[in-house]
Amino acid sequence: MAVTIIVGSQWGDEGKGKIVDFLAKNVTVVVRYQGGGNAGHTVIVDGRKTVFHLIPSGILQKKICILGNGMVINPEGLLKEVEEIEKLGIDIKKYLFISDRAHVIFHRHRQQDKHENVNRIGSTGQGIGPSYTDKFARVGTRMIDLLEKKSSSKFIAKFKSNIVDTSALLAKINRQKKEIILEGAQGTLLDIDHGTYPFVTSSNSTSGGALTGSGIGPMEVCNVFGIAKAYTTRVGNGPFPTELSNKTGEFLRTQGKEFGATTGRPRRCGWLDLVILRYAVRINSLSGWIVTKLDILSNLPKIKVCLYYKYKGKKLYDFPASLKVLQNCRPVYREFSGWKDLGKVKSFASLPKNSQKYLRFLEKETETPIKYLSFGQDRNQIIRL
Ligand code: GDP
Ligand code: IMO
Ligand code: MG
Repeated sequence: MAVTIIVGSQWGDEGKGKIVDFLAKNVTVVVRYQGGGNAGHTVIVDGRKTVFHLIPSGILQKKICILGNGMVINPEGLLKEVEEIEKLGIDIKKYLFISDRAHVIFHRHRQQDKHENVNRIGSTGQGIGPSYTDKFARVGTRMIDLLEKKSSSKFIAKFKSNIVDTSALLAKINRQKKEIILEGAQGTLLDIDHGTYPFVTSSNSTSGGALTGSGIGPMEVCNVFGIAKAYTTRVGNGPFPTELSNKTGEFLRTQGKEFGATTGRPRRCGWLDLVILRYAVRINSLSGWIVTKLDILSNLPKIKVCLYYKYKGKKLYDFPASLKVLQNCRPVYREFSGWKDLGKVKSFASLPKNSQKYLRFLEKETETPIKYLSFGQDRNQIIRL
């Protein structure tokens, strides 16, 4: 058993790219299993920034990178991204494999998305919804169809031999007991089933989607890590109970450089929400947390954490389905004293006492241990707990 699933626990942009790049050092393969160019995964190595939309965040570590069957892929977008990676001196054709069952995003999907979903949902306009609509209406086009049609496109000319049965390839690697990471895009609350519908993406970004989207069975999985930002952000429309439309929200946005990696839009910011994190534990079967961006909370005098919601006099501990409830509930907070600076982070014990209390509270309330803590953008700014 050597499969680890990485999922976003909130509304995306938790720092999945940074974490996958770091963990990829010790694995053989990294797989994207759903979504497409809507994702923006940032990796910073020695101050140099790379943003991945389709290619798994393991490529800088020169690992086998798989675009799984659950993805929807814009070939032109992929080619563009490939060129960027090639500029870094990586011979991508050696590492990249694309599922023959992955669906294709065409120009018309992107056009339709821009007309119908950008204003309504706040979609990224990448054609995700329309392409998945075709898939589920059983009128979509898969990579294998492009091959069989003998498409003469630049994409097929270049990647013909990289389009394979990636589930079979993964089974072979798994039998050799080599480590595999399944890299989620988006987050639990953007999942088509479990998210804040209809303000969600069109795929299962939670751990269930990692299995169907890669063709790996549940018994192969040994860990499911939820990436949680030390506060909450959301880009696009829809309810957000702990959102801060004040100076503190502005502070988080500025300090955290909270602007979309795909669209450049400012991200909405708010306090950490334990209703969401408990929900993420349940839906994804999380075995541990990886907390990111703790550094951004430094210098705040007081830090709040939402314990539960109050709606019409009732306490809500479970994340509700109703958007009306989410819009009108009141988050009930526990207040923590802040800390000035994290200092030189070497271990949990080296952290300021108040930040230790904050992290321990998160663990206790979610009954899930923190496995890694990230405290800066760079690859090395992370410790194991
Ligand atoms: P993803 O979509 O989950 O991969 O996340 P994004 O890349 O969209 O956004 C996360 C942003 O936070 C990126 O700019 C990362 O470089 C940055 N980041 C990740 N972890 C940390 C951290 O621990 N501290 C700080 N300050 N930035 C981080
Ligand atoms: P990563 O992988 C944050 C949001 C959009 C919009 C909704 C639907 O970087 O965490 P879509 O284009 O999928 O139809 O948009 O989902 N969204 C994301 N928000 N991070 C992402 O990906 C997102 N991908 C989509 O803003 O609200
Ligand atoms: Mg992102």
